[in-house]
Amino acid sequence: MLATVLYNGIILDKMRDCKVYFEIGSYDGEGITMLGSRYPEKFFYSLDPFIEDGHTAAVTGVQKGGKLSGIRETFLARIKDRENIVHFDMTDNEFIEGKVYDLISPDVMFIDGDHSYEHVALDLRIAEILASKNPLWVIMDDTVNIEGVVRALNEFKEAHLDINFTALRDYGAVYFNLP
Ligand SMILES: C[S@@+](CC[C@H](N)C(=O)[O-])C[C@H]1O[C@@H](n2cnc3c(N)ncnc32)[C@H](O)[C@@H]1O
Repeated sequence: MLATVLYNGIILDKMRDCKVYFEIGSYDGEGITMLGSRYPEKFFYSLDPFIEDGHTAAVTGVQKGGKLSGIRETFLARIKDRENIVHFDMTDNEFIEGKVYDLISPDVMFIDGDHSYEHVALDLRIAEILASKNPLWVIMDDTVNIEGVVRALNEFKEAHLDINFTALRDYGAVYFNLP
């Protein structure tokens, strides 16, 4: 688990009053299985193609664009016996192109996938699509330290002037509600 502060903090907090969780970028699955066992009566969706985006290369030892095969194995072993977790082993592009979003209706979403501008913008587009069905709490990681994330978030903010964005103190993340 990389974003320990978020899983144990704002995400856990939001799940107290919500029912269905969706995360983009599940990595080794420690975060989502912790949530899944903490809330056995709630439902959890994961999306991850297990591809190194370059920002965790120092931890994974895999170059940008390479397969995170070991991380995938760890993830699959972790979720194996958890009936309330469903995993989509695909990219965010494939999720959109295949209209997989039609299958889910989350009320909490964690965006922590590929941190490039194009992908973060796509993930925020997915948030908009999901919010058109159901009001959605969105939590985003790395919103101050990675240029592509900052740019995509700023553009999103300009397109949603009515939304209140809350930055976490002492951690580079924001959360907001998409009505
Ligand atoms: C920073 S890690 C996620 C960390 C995890 N949320 C945690 O805190 O433990 C980023 C993840 O994004 C995934 N990823 C890479 N490209 C992706 C894409 N196109 N769509 C969705 N996820 C992607 C990677 O496989 C990786 O597991």
